Amino acid sequence: MRGQPPPESNQPENWGVLKKLIPYLSEYKARVLLALIFLVGAKLATTGLPFLIKGMVDQLGTNTNQTNPEKWLLAPVALVLVYGVLRFANVLFGEIRDTLFGRVTERAMRRIAHQVFVHLHQLDLDYHLNRKTGGVSRDIERGVSGISFLLRFMVFSILPALIEILLVVGILLFQYGWTFGLTTLIAIISYITFSVKITNWRKAFLREANTADSASNSRAIDSLLNYETVKYYTNESYEADRYDANLKQLEQAKRKNRLSLFALNGGQALIISISMTAMMLLAVLGVQNGDMSVGDFVLVNAFMMQLFIPLGSLGFVYREIKTSMINIEQLFNILDIEAKVKDNNAEKLTIKQGDVEFKQIEFSYRPDRTIIKGISFKVSAGQTLAVVGASGSGKSTLVKLLFRFYDPTAGVIQIDGQNIKQISQQSLRKAIGIVPQDTVLFNDTIWENIRYGSPKASDAAVQQAISMAYLDDFIAALPDGANTQVGERGLKLSGGEKQRVAIARTILKKPPIMVFDEATSSLDSKSEQMILKAIGEVAKNTTNLVIAHRLSTIVHASQIIVLEQGRIIEQGSHNDLILAQGNYAKLWHAQQHESKLKSNISN
Ligand SMILES: Nc1ncnc2c1ncn2[C@@H]1O[C@H](COP(=O)(O)OP(=O)(O)O)[C@@H](O)[C@H]1O
Ligand SMILES: [Mg+2]
Repeated sequence: MRGQPPPESNQPENWGVLKKLIPYLSEYKARVLLALIFLVGAKLATTGLPFLIKGMVDQLGTNTNQTNPEKWLLAPVALVLVYGVLRFANVLFGEIRDTLFGRVTERAMRRIAHQVFVHLHQLDLDYHLNRKTGGVSRDIERGVSGISFLLRFMVFSILPALIEILLVVGILLFQYGWTFGLTTLIAIISYITFSVKITNWRKAFLREANTADSASNSRAIDSLLNYETVKYYTNESYEADRYDANLKQLEQAKRKNRLSLFALNGGQALIISISMTAMMLLAVLGVQNGDMSVGDFVLVNAFMMQLFIPLGSLGFVYREIKTSMINIEQLFNILDIEAKVKDNNAEKLTIKQGDVEFKQIEFSYRPDRTIIKGISFKVSAGQTLAVVGASGSGKSTLVKLLFRFYDPTAGVIQIDGQNIKQISQQSLRKAIGIVPQDTVLFNDTIWENIRYGSPKASDAAVQQAISMAYLDDFIAALPDGANTQVGERGLKLSGGEKQRVAIARTILKKPPIMVFDEATSSLDSKSEQMILKAIGEVAKNTTNLVIAHRLSTIVHASQIIVLEQGRIIEQGSHNDLILAQGNYAKLWHAQQHESKLKSNISN
């Protein structure tokens, strides 16, 4: 299910998908029913047309020699009028049907797209780390338009064609005997069989064209995304050649595709011509025998013409329906994925002080590699627990466990004595604020990105958060101020600026528990001091978990734990750890030495 390949049109289609769509139709039962009634009405109107033509022809033919010309004109004129009415009714009923049913498909599309979106946000982090965003969004897009297509064509194309075929075959059978009924039936069956066979054979060419299309597309996009790299290595012509190679494949695939379409259309035309000729021959014989009138001859012709119009589109519809079903199935597959982290008997978290306790926590992302190996600690309200350790020792993982992006394999995490597994993820995450290691921003303005911390906050509160995060000067220097667009994922801001936007956002959220994951690591020491002041202000009354790279930033922490490969190797206050002369002390001296060197250089 995860990281699945894109759907291919040669997968077996699952007609069960249709069943899953029924609930979406039942929301508008009356509408669907009405649309069906108008559909039948439209079809009845069209089926009546050939009869009217027959009547007119017959009357015109037999009555010309009569003495009273006014009388012989009257009957055909009435028929002409009815003909006009029926023709209009046919179009009108069709339009009403479309209008009625349009609402049904639009609502179904909205429901499903919304459902998938909500579901995606319920899935755990692990799913999202493994997904390919482009793939998922294409799955949704294709699935949703597949649903609209399928519903539309089921109601507007397949069903009418079937109704029409049944009506016409029935009429021919009853009116003119089995030779006509049977000939029509044979014509239809051979037409459909031929179309299905050839369409299946063509699928290979279609797929080839699709693959070549995606390949050339992703090549072009990848190359443009890496614009700078292409320039750095002056590989423009190399890129152009690779792109052209893909385009050439696309060109060839399209040629084959076109030739196969020629075979399909040609074959269909042949079948239609043979059947028409056979029917006309039968009709001519009938007229010569005196079994049929000239009007009957015209009627048969009109019916055959009418029949092959819906059949003509059936080949196309057949292929599209198969593709749609595969796409819809793909979409429903997303809905079938279950989140690994679930709310079970979830109650709301009630915060008293905001004490956080980890009890013998063990965790692994994959069964074959344990990341956290039995970690316990406790932080109380107003205190700061600092976590230090080499990169990869599992510091950020502790944060992900606290946020319950993953459940620990052993041990319990408690907030004010409540196991976070038993409280709703919503209420848990509402209580924790984070300034993450890598801040990513929405492609929006600075202002809106900060307001995201509490979308209902007043402008004054946002402004205050900006000041508290020391963003005033930076924003004042921007031509567009706080209305500056930050670019995709916030790429137009520097690391430190992004970090401060994240701090302002968290200040606005005002949670009782705060997490800073290397929040100042991408800052120079001057802005670091400013941030630390800001953090100090915010952190006064909250429970704080600070992951730090530079030890100078956590000297005043109530408690420091030193992690090494998922284990706590040292624990205590700064002074305790310096006195213990262990890893922490070594690291401290090394960093002190380094900063002395730095200040010597800058002096
Ligand atoms: N989603 C993941 N799947 C598998 N391994 C992961 C995942 N996230 C992190 N890791 C691994 O877990 C280890 C600890 O990562 P992390 O907690 O981010 O370290 P740090 O202490 O630098 O914050 C690293 O070796 C990392 O490669
Ligand atoms: Mg980290």
